[in-house]
Amino acid sequence: MAPQPGKGKQMRQSTRMIGGALMTLALMSGWDLGVAGQQRGGTPAQLVIPSMSGGDLFRFYCASCHGRDGKGDGPVAAALTRRPPDLTTIAMRNGGGFPTDQVEGFVTGNRVPTLAHGSAEMPVWGPIFWALDPQDRMNRIRIENVVAFVASIQAK
Ligand code: HEC
Repeated sequence: MAPQPGKGKQMRQSTRMIGGALMTLALMSGWDLGVAGQQRGGTPAQLVIPSMSGGDLFRFYCASCHGRDGKGDGPVAAALTRRPPDLTTIAMRNGGGFPTDQVEGFVTGNRVPTLAHGSAEMPVWGPIFWALDPQDRMNRIRIENVVAFVASIQAK
């Protein structure tokens, strides 16, 4: 289950959070992929990539912190007080099985409150994706694909 933008107080909080996250994204974007549609001269970089591939989504939205291979050594990692975990060892740390629902909940922020909200270092992507692109189906696919990508890079 993917989240929908909330209402009232929750909505205002999400909006603030989204503002911060978008700033981060704007600064980060263009580092990893040659971002289609990115323009020079004051026009903001594109924040929604055309690709729906889990790997491309990961490199665009996640690699700045988690590293291109998910090991936690992205360029932004050093600036965080909480180091991004090595995403390739999630299955190992969970007795060998990849906890798809848990990971999805962590990414979307569906499991509230989570440690991630507390630390505020891991952007909560559910509301961000929905703010960037209101097409519900597209976002469900994005989240599913990026989580499948994380599942695909698990250390054996
Ligand atoms: C701004 C840096 C940043 C970005 C961008 C980011 N993360 Fe994270 N991520 C973190 C940090 C920091 C943690 C640890 C948070 C905590 O424990 O409170 C984390 C934790 C996680 C976890 C939990 C891992 C575990 O071992 O428990 C998952 C899964 C995850 N991130 C996936 C993603 C995905 C997928 C994306 C892209 C859609 C992403 N992250 C983007 C910083 C980031």
